[in-house]
Formats: sequence, C-alpha cells, structure tokens
Amino acid sequence: IKHLTSMDLLANDEVMGLIKRAQYLKHHQVKPDFKRQFFVANLFFENSTRTHKSFEVAEKKLGLDVINFDASTSSVNKGETLYDTVLTMSAIGIDVCVIRHTDENFYQELVDSRTIQSAIINGGDGSGQHPSQSLLDLLTIYEAFGRFEGVKIMIAGDITHSRVAKSNMQMLKRLGADIYFTGPESWYDPAFDIYGRYVSLDSMVEEIDVVMLLRVQHERHDSGTTFSKADYHEQYGLTTERYAKLKPHAIIMHPAPVNRGVEIASHLVEAPKSRIVAQMHNGVYMRMAILEAILNGKA
Ligand code: CP
Repeated sequence: IKHLTSMDLLANDEVMGLIKRAQYLKHHQVKPDFKRQFFVANLFFENSTRTHKSFEVAEKKLGLDVINFDASTSSVNKGETLYDTVLTMSAIGIDVCVIRHTDENFYQELVDSRTIQSAIINGGDGSGQHPSQSLLDLLTIYEAFGRFEGVKIMIAGDITHSRVAKSNMQMLKRLGADIYFTGPESWYDPAFDIYGRYVSLDSMVEEIDVVMLLRVQHERHDSGTTFSKADYHEQYGLTTERYAKLKPHAIIMHPAPVNRGVEIASHLVEAPKSRIVAQMHNGVYMRMAILEAILNGKA
C-alpha cells in the first residue's frame, strides 16, 4: 500500500490482509524490524482524540520517530497552504504524514504531486472518508462474526455528514454484508440506496447483527437547525427497550465520541453487547498494520 486515502482504493485481499495482520499484532508481542529509521508526522487540522492518539501509540509501538506537529502553532497560521506544509514535511524527510482536515478530498493534490515523497494517510477528510476507522470497524465485526458475507448491519443516524458511514457502506457492501440505513430522512441521501435499504429502526431491531450508531455532527449542520436530544433518542437512538430486543449475539458499535443519551443510552456504552471500547482498542493494532504495510513498501 502506497497511501491510505479512501476505502474504494483498497482491494478486498488488501483489506483482509490488514485485518489478519492487526489480529496478529493484537495477540503477539512484535519487535519492530524495519531496515531503516522512519519519521512520521501527525497533522491534525480538525479535533481528534482517538485517531490522533491511537496513531501515536501505534507509531511508538512500531519504533517509529514521531515528529510533533501542532497546527495551532504551525506556519499554517501565517497563511501556508496544506500542500506547502506537506511539501515541507517531505523535504525534511518525513516518510508518512497522517492528516485530518476539514476539506473533503484534501489528499488528492498531495498524492498527485510529483515532488511530495511522503506517504499520505487520511485521518478523516470533512464528510468524505475515514479509512483507518473503517478498517478498525471491519476488524471489530470480523472478530465477532468471523465473516462479512450475510452479516446484517444497520448504519444509524447522521449518515450524510458521516465519513465513517461512507467508508463503511462501500467496503461492507463489497465484502458481502447486508446493509440497512436508519435515521432522520433529512440526513439520508438516496444515493446511498446502491449500498443498502433505508428502513425504520424498530422494523429491523430484532433481526440485525450489528447496530452501527453514528455521532450527530452538530458542527457540520447549518446554524439555526433545531434539535431535541430527547426526541432524537426516542426516535432513532439505542434505548434500553431497543437493546432488550437485539439478538443475543448482536453487537453495538459507535466510532465515538459518543453523545451519551442521544445516539445511545449512557449506561449502554459499556453494556455486554457494546464493542465501543473494543473499537478504540482495535484502532491501535489496525493503525500499526496500516503503517507497517505502507513502510514495508518504502524500505
Ligand atoms: N472516531 C474518531 O475519529 O474519533 P476522533 O475524532 O476522536 O479521532
């Protein structure tokens, strides 16, 4: 793998290879054995806790040299563009740039550049893609079911604004999962119909294997949009009553951060069927697998 920018650029065997490698890394102590020193910089222009910090842990577990980059004190504040920032990273010898940015598709001009030599990992581009989250979600589903074919997955909530939903619907459909969508109609785009079926949560809650809840992304909504947390929870959230109707083996996922009491009743975040903490834990091993796959191609 040269870059990781969008799930649609990964072949099925590359996805399965990353899942198997992440599983191995999770269960075995692996000593890094890269043939040379590698430098990595994490450039986060949008807020992050999980993606930023789990990439950092993954990088350190792999023995990589992590170069601090703080967008708020960088020359971006003097007007430097993202392209020129990454051009600089490449020129000073940074092998991999993990980037989160509000602009959808920010990565295209970087991977198309003939000068920039750094590999680019998309840590989330606006409402576009979030491939490392998708891969850790796939790992979590594979751990639970050992397959994707025929697994019934319901993606619930603020779908149009969710890069996690977009990455996951594309790849899960390709891997043979049955996808259902639910949530407010105003946050659903009929273009998603090619991946799954838009249904009511209550019509399917007893049949699904995976409930993939999405964060309500207030920061991407028009200002002035009225929103009632209680109404949302009642209509589209995972309430205690809906939890009780889930199949015994069903699992609950959420990329987090969670709006407790909105997408999910607060006490269910750590309930037996919840894999929300497992997703965060899996993020470290999947990000190790991604970095390894990219760096092995650079050695
Ligand atoms: N899931 C996720 O991307 O979380 P952060 O925004 O905290 O990185």
